[in-house]
Amino acid sequence: MWSPDSWQSREALQQPDWPQEAALKRVLSELRALPPLVFAGEARHLESALARVAKGEAFLLQAGDCSESFAEFSADQIRDKLKVILQMAVVLTYGAGVPVVKVGRIAGQFAKPRSSATEIVDGIELPSFRGHMVNDDSPDPLARIPDPERLLAAYHQSAATLNLLRAFTKGGFADLTQVHAWNQEFVAASAQGRRYESIAGEIEAALRFMAACGIDLSTESNLHQVDFWTSHEALLLVYEEALTRRDSLTGKYYDCSAHLLWVGERTRQLDGAHVEFLSGVCNPLGVKIGPEARPEEVVALCDKLDPQAVPGRLTLITRLGAGRVEELLPPLLETVKNSGHEVVWACDPMHANTFLSDGGLKTRRFDDVLAEIRGFFQVHKKLGSWPGGIHIELTGENVTECLGGLGDILEDQLDLRYTTTCDPRLNAQQAIDLSFRVAELLRA
Ligand code: PEP
Ligand code: CO
Repeated sequence: MWSPDSWQSREALQQPDWPQEAALKRVLSELRALPPLVFAGEARHLESALARVAKGEAFLLQAGDCSESFAEFSADQIRDKLKVILQMAVVLTYGAGVPVVKVGRIAGQFAKPRSSATEIVDGIELPSFRGHMVNDDSPDPLARIPDPERLLAAYHQSAATLNLLRAFTKGGFADLTQVHAWNQEFVAASAQGRRYESIAGEIEAALRFMAACGIDLSTESNLHQVDFWTSHEALLLVYEEALTRRDSLTGKYYDCSAHLLWVGERTRQLDGAHVEFLSGVCNPLGVKIGPEARPEEVVALCDKLDPQAVPGRLTLITRLGAGRVEELLPPLLETVKNSGHEVVWACDPMHANTFLSDGGLKTRRFDDVLAEIRGFFQVHKKLGSWPGGIHIELTGENVTECLGGLGDILEDQLDLRYTTTCDPRLNAQQAIDLSFRVAELLRA
């Protein structure tokens, strides 16, 4: 029998050792009394949008920070991240003629799984940074002690972020007549920025043409608003449990911390606590699939998380590596297809292509990111299935965290503007560049 706390009888990996049991209890009871961040009806709406992706009628763009930051939290930063995602969606929709389902890694992406309990920063061994929902990233042993108050801070930052996203996406900023305004200065100056400008110009001309034909565009809400969904890794189960609510309409449980939750590569054990928890909430779910995953194991996860085989319920996010995707993806596709689950296949070209630069910074090459996406498309084409989407770590800022791209960031330039608290993100230019390449792959 599933209940919001039934995960507690299973082994839960990657949970912090909270030092103050009493403080944690108090925080959790406060969280349980706070309003939900999203509503069950919205999660169902996203599930039906994802069902269209599963059927090959739309494309999923899931993107945002590796790890949201308490320090980088301002209206401008949220707006700039949204701008890039809207721009990418325009490039994909216009370039490939498919609707794009837009999901942010945002408004809740604050907890990080770590491969090791400690890490070396500037020569000192420290407890690992686990996301701002748990501890602080500064290189100080005291800052690394988990603090339950951070769960509340993450909830409130998520609420404020989501509020602004709702205002931006429903209140005029995402209106298609604003398509030029999403191009930030440092992007507009680049070749891909100019390419974007010319699409924006064509869209404007098309809108003018329709208006001149007597079509009343003011009543077409699709031109003036966008649906933008939130997602994060459901890692800290005490937090996810505290935000899980029973929907008054259907009597079913939803994790109201985000529209879509995913289980990470390190915590997706079939009998583990994370899979147990997610199996009982009715939100659409993601599962990260790394190079070690065996096809039968993936099908067992599908059976557990999607026993009714509902299209849109599950998104399998493969992160196999540029060099191995063409070898590892086909058996996964075949086996899942034969199992009867109608899943969304999304490509995360980031997490299996990470390495340490000579200067000791985690980085990724733009070319590897693109190569994994190409391999992903190639395999789907060969097997006649739909390459449903991409899952990207990016930011709207002009950071230097990933190598290459048209701006050609070099290894010795990484530390110029390297601000991520966890994994390296594509900057806005690299992200727009990538969207043009993906649009070309989709067209082909
Ligand atoms: C992530 O998405 O930031 C992450 C940790 O991914 P994975 O679980 O695939 O390693
Ligand atoms: Co990451």
